[in-house]
Amino acid sequence: MSVLHDKHILLGISGSIAAYKTPLIVRLLVKAGAAVQVVMTESAKTFVTPLTLSTVSNREVLSSFINEENENAVWNNHVDLGLWADAMLIAPASANTLSKMSQANADNLLIATYLSAKCPVFFAPAMDLDMHKHPANKSNIEKLIDNGNILIPATSGALASGLEGEGRMEEPEQIIAALETYFLEKSPFFEKKIVITAGPTYEPIDPVRFIGNHSSGKMGYALANCAAQLGANVTLISGPTAGNKTHPNVDVLGVTTAEEMLKACIDMYDGADAVIMSAAVADFKPSTKANQKLKKRDGLDVISLTPTTDILAHLGKKKKHQVLIGFALESENAMAHAQDKMIRKNLDAIVVNSLTDTGAGFGHDTNKITFLQRDKAPVNYSLKSKEEVAKDVLFHLKNIFDAQ
Ligand code: CTP
Repeated sequence: MSVLHDKHILLGISGSIAAYKTPLIVRLLVKAGAAVQVVMTESAKTFVTPLTLSTVSNREVLSSFINEENENAVWNNHVDLGLWADAMLIAPASANTLSKMSQANADNLLIATYLSAKCPVFFAPAMDLDMHKHPANKSNIEKLIDNGNILIPATSGALASGLEGEGRMEEPEQIIAALETYFLEKSPFFEKKIVITAGPTYEPIDPVRFIGNHSSGKMGYALANCAAQLGANVTLISGPTAGNKTHPNVDVLGVTTAEEMLKACIDMYDGADAVIMSAAVADFKPSTKANQKLKKRDGLDVISLTPTTDILAHLGKKKKHQVLIGFALESENAMAHAQDKMIRKNLDAIVVNSLTDTGAGFGHDTNKITFLQRDKAPVNYSLKSKEEVAKDVLFHLKNIFDAQ
């Protein structure tokens, strides 16, 4: 999930040849999960059609104060637009639009919306090199920066005039990256250190056999990826799993046994802001591991088992500033058992799965959870993809961070 997911972005397009790149900006924003409302000037329409932009944004494009195409003419309320937006991006910002922005010359809907916007405003200038370096234009840009707007600087290269120099609008991918960086740095997860465990543990009987379980690790990987996309520094301590992909900002520590997982968790614990324990840690391990492969002819009537250390309970005892979230897989009296685990292991919250829910738990791509938090009413969720469940869990973690 991108940090732009669910964000409301106002895209103001002014008249510059670079406007031909704006459908790609809209596509990238929509792909990231943002809702995009395009507001364009009349002259922008000579470079890119409203039809193209309304198709890619899936919304009517606005350009005048009054929408007369509607049977009963309606007022395109720039104040409402300004309040709706989480960010406004003016790209391309022509010399004319920069001048109107800096003078508060609200003779079109784009400028009126800009003046009403309470959100951060990004602007990406685009014009010919001599216009760009003209002192009047430079001072407009400086004034806009002084007023708190965020400049996405023009780059150097071949210009539509045939000249070479500074004045090209930044590329759409870089513009999106600038927005993402801004929202990442504002994210409550920015620079938070989150340790997440995933998958099963394997407890060896001999060099080739083990006691394990069917955990696929999908839930833990979804949590790790989602937290990384929200700007967290994630360490994923993973038991043996196959086919799970990770976000580049997830640091994966592979482990096999419960003991190795315990050691990795202890190593990471002091520096962690939160630990989410979604691994299906084996509760028991063979009391001894045979050094050589056990021979069938020798028989094996029983495997003597010893309990593994309960990692969460161990972390709960040493808890200081860390937020501790566990998972509970229950087959009966789910809420009562989960509540008991939360208290017994000194957790802040526990994610409850019931084995009786179809499509939930081990191996599935979906999960159905109840989020149980100390002194709060349980929150029940419907069956969702594990990626969606990860967002729900991290929403609660964000609230816990906010309350700290
Ligand atoms: N857990 C752990 N270390 C273990 C066993 C479990 O850290 N040795 C963690 C799990 O990762 C999970 C939580 O404890 O977050 C609850 O696990 P669960 O298997 O539901 O409960 P148990 O405590 O093992 O109790 P029971 O098996 O009796 O339900």
